[in-house]
Amino acid sequence: MLNLSYFLLFGSTLVFADLLGIPTVPFKTASDKTFDLSSIRTIAVDPQFVSARDDNGWTLIPPTLKEFADIFAEDLKQSTTPHVTVQECGVEANGIFLTISNDTKFTDAAGRFTSEGYKIDVSDHGINITGASPLGVWWGTRTVLQQAILHNGKLSLGSGVDSPGWNTRGIFLDAGRHYYPPSFLVEMCSWISFWKQNTFHLHLSDNLYNNVDIYDRERQLDLYARFRLWSDDPAVAGLNKHRNESYTREDFDYIQSSCASRGVTVIPEIEAPGHALVISQWKPELGLDGALDLLNISYPETIPAMQSIWKTFLPWFHSKTVHIGADEYADADLSTYELAEAYNKFVNAMNEYISAESGKEMRIWGTYPPQSNYTNNIAKNVTIQHWEFFEDNPLFDYINSGISVINSDDGFYMVQKYSESYPQQLNRTRIFHGNPAGGPFAPNIFDTKNATNNPPRDSRFVPGHIAAQWNDYGYNTSTYLEAYYEWRDLLPALADKQWGGTLEEKDYDELFASLQPKAPAQNLDRTIPSKSSTILKYDFQNQVKSRGQIKDLSENNYNGQTNCSLSNQAFQFQKQCKVSTPLTSKGMNYTLSFTLKQTSPQPGPLFTGPDSELRSGNGSSSAIMLVSGGNAFALNYSLPVGKWVDAKLIGRGNQTFFAVDGGDEMEFKTRIGINGLYTRWTRMAIVAPLQTIGGGSWEGLVKSVELVDYA
Ligand SMILES: *[C@@H]1O[C@H](CO)[C@@H](O)[C@H](O)[C@H]1NC(C)=O
Ligand SMILES: *[C@@H]1O[C@H](CO)[C@@H](O)[C@H](O)[C@H]1NC(C)=O
Ligand SMILES: *[C@@H]1O[C@H](CO)[C@@H](O)[C@H](O)[C@H]1NC(C)=O
Ligand SMILES: *[C@@H]1O[C@H](CO)[C@@H](O)[C@H](O)[C@H]1NC(C)=O
Ligand SMILES: *[C@@H]1O[C@H](CO)[C@@H](O)[C@H](O)[C@H]1NC(C)=O
Ligand SMILES: *[C@@H]1O[C@H](CO)[C@@H](O)[C@H](O)[C@H]1NC(C)=O
Ligand SMILES: *[C@@H]1O[C@H](CO)[C@@H](O)[C@H](O)[C@H]1NC(C)=O
Ligand SMILES: *[C@@H]1O[C@H](CO)[C@@H](O)[C@H](O)[C@H]1NC(C)=O
Ligand SMILES: *[C@@H]1O[C@H](CO)[C@@H](O)[C@H](O)[C@H]1NC(C)=O
Ligand SMILES: *[C@@H]1O[C@H](CO)[C@@H](O)[C@H](O)[C@H]1NC(C)=O
Ligand SMILES: *[C@@H]1O[C@H](CO)[C@@H](O)[C@H](O)[C@H]1NC(C)=O
Ligand SMILES: *[C@@H]1O[C@H](CO)[C@@H](O)[C@H](O)[C@H]1NC(C)=O
Repeated sequence: MLNLSYFLLFGSTLVFADLLGIPTVPFKTASDKTFDLSSIRTIAVDPQFVSARDDNGWTLIPPTLKEFADIFAEDLKQSTTPHVTVQECGVEANGIFLTISNDTKFTDAAGRFTSEGYKIDVSDHGINITGASPLGVWWGTRTVLQQAILHNGKLSLGSGVDSPGWNTRGIFLDAGRHYYPPSFLVEMCSWISFWKQNTFHLHLSDNLYNNVDIYDRERQLDLYARFRLWSDDPAVAGLNKHRNESYTREDFDYIQSSCASRGVTVIPEIEAPGHALVISQWKPELGLDGALDLLNISYPETIPAMQSIWKTFLPWFHSKTVHIGADEYADADLSTYELAEAYNKFVNAMNEYISAESGKEMRIWGTYPPQSNYTNNIAKNVTIQHWEFFEDNPLFDYINSGISVINSDDGFYMVQKYSESYPQQLNRTRIFHGNPAGGPFAPNIFDTKNATNNPPRDSRFVPGHIAAQWNDYGYNTSTYLEAYYEWRDLLPALADKQWGGTLEEKDYDELFASLQPKAPAQNLDRTIPSKSSTILKYDFQNQVKSRGQIKDLSENNYNGQTNCSLSNQAFQFQKQCKVSTPLTSKGMNYTLSFTLKQTSPQPGPLFTGPDSELRSGNGSSSAIMLVSGGNAFALNYSLPVGKWVDAKLIGRGNQTFFAVDGGDEMEFKTRIGINGLYTRWTRMAIVAPLQTIGGGSWEGLVKSVELVDYA
């Protein structure tokens, strides 16, 4: 298809020209005039559809049109349109009108109705967004918001009909081998929703690689394995032993409803019968002797045990489909044929159970494709999530027989921080040019090398694409925010392809740079508004007259509060006294400089924030360390006692450093374990902690603190 954006001609006829955005939006420009959003006051919600909800999406808790409108209004207020309010009324001059209609045919790539489609009409007296459902309207509001951000509030007059090619677009995060707090997951939902992604697949149980060649039974029973949901139901008593790194039902409701409020459905995964060490650590009799991470599915108690886990948690899940894992179930002691038969029986038993119990559909990872000599093949209503051609061939094994396959091919896998097989960034070339038959990647491109393996774009059996990020090496490889960093630069480009957009590589960087800082309802970059590159400057030597209040000498007025006392023109930290700032964290890049004298060997926190803590020692260690996400990353360096030091904490790119008195930079690193075989040191990107200075058992004097936005 010809891209006509180069041939803009204004005249009596409409001109087709995609609106550049992420994703792009098909649009016919009517004139070279614009409508200015900055002065509008009303978002009018069609009274007929105020309480309408979309029943076609993946979520069971779809917001109403009014609820989406309220969030849209908040987003507009934060960007281009400060005075907008939501009204339940018909079209108002100079406003935005939200309504629902099927008059326009909204279709997906296979030509079927999609409730996620919308039409946008921009005239010189207002904007109409007409969705196939409230969810369609919601994606239309993302278009308006993006265009307003890109063009200073001014939208070209014209109209466009837009709908996603696929109903499953999003990301997968391994929250089994690494914990992530609910607030982080919710920020991720806000961020992906801005790029019109609608799926957040959460992997809620897993274990570090069970290296049976070297681990005895005892070590297997002690290996890092986690189940992230926390219930007091006696049926699962003892399954989860880590309350502080778990989601209660309340947490999970909060995550799901916050994500749903921005059009994102959380798809929960509880993994078995492979990657299931946490289950045999709970009930060792369920594990295969010698490889406890694989459940013995011929053992009569295994299926009932899995069903009792699902019985407990199914009522928690507000999605129409759930994922039971069923990945990588293989063991040398049994022939593949026998194992596959048992596996198929397991999957079918779970499918029937979950359907009978909740009416939900079920997904599994592609593991044993159907064979004519299996007595049981997996029920055709189980959706397969393909990830590797050595496991299955999506087209020939499934799609040609009418089985749906979600594309999670490992061409877009990432493993946090280090891997012999997978990268730590998405592949840009593959996103923009990944179709082996020519053109960009799309969800029907399972194989980026061999076009014969790909179904046609209009296949009815490709729900969409989910990009996966794994934590193979576990809890101490990364902070929470580092999961976002791996996606940050290129996920929006992939989101365009998941939608079916036509974004070209040459346009991406500029669009991303303009849109990214304005993505609403999250601050994953941990930016701090600042009038200059100096964000905060406290000079405690000049605080004599203003005890209790600390003046910020930058232009930002980020004044602090303290209950420490002044001693010799420096604040004296003792008896848990502290300085509080109005700031929380600063993401990369930054330099946090401070002059201090430690007066006792007593370990304690120097700086603390919600995402990290800089400590001088802990327990019996006196080392300088950063703590983030429940892990401590220590330097081979301790502050001297009784001597003034000029120190700098530096966050640069994807690394973090500490330097004293102008000396060499020392790097905070983590030592990660690789399958029990060896360890490896690797970089850490840790944000600056800014909320509190002192406040614990650390004792010393601090003269000055300064934060700048470069490193
Ligand atoms: C539009 O059509 C779909 C599919 O036929 C239907 O589910 C939906 O309720 C219709 N919406 C309206 C507003 O008529
Ligand atoms: C918006 O919809 C209203 C009601 O259908 C219509 O009167 C108006 O002309 C539409 N505006 C645009 C810009 O299409
Ligand atoms: C699996 O369970 C079956 C049935 O109880 C038992 O016969 C078999 O020995 C078990 N296999 C392993 C490897 O644990
Ligand atoms: C899927 O098929 C199985 C087996 O035929 C059936 O028991 C189950 O109810 C179906 N699931 C759904 C969600 O319809
Ligand atoms: C089952 O069929 C496949 C080919 O479809 C063959 O490779 C395999 O050996 C057969 N297994 C048994 C146990 O018959
Ligand atoms: C990125 O993808 C392209 C196209 O699939 C491929 O040729 C290239 O090798 C990939 N780059 C890396 C670093 O994997
Ligand atoms: C491409 O895929 C087809 C179908 O799976 C296969 O027959 C063919 O050998 C593959 N070609 C190459 C070069 O791998
Ligand atoms: C300062 O306030 C904190 C509570 O914010 C309190 O724990 C601490 O004891 C106070 N220290 C002094 C010296 O008043
Ligand atoms: C949870 O508690 C364990 C054990 O006390 C601790 O090691 C871990 O760091 C804690 N996790 C977080 C996120 O604080
Ligand atoms: C941070 O610093 C690194 C290394 O100097 C640089 O590559 C990167 O562009 C900087 N990032 C920002 C956001 O300035
Ligand atoms: C992060 O660090 C790695 C290894 O040091 C480097 O190769 C990579 O380019 C860095 N990535 C970014 C986005 O800065
Ligand atoms: C991180 O965990 C691995 C186990 O996966 C362990 O070998 C390693 O020592 C840990 N690193 C640190 C710094 O504690």
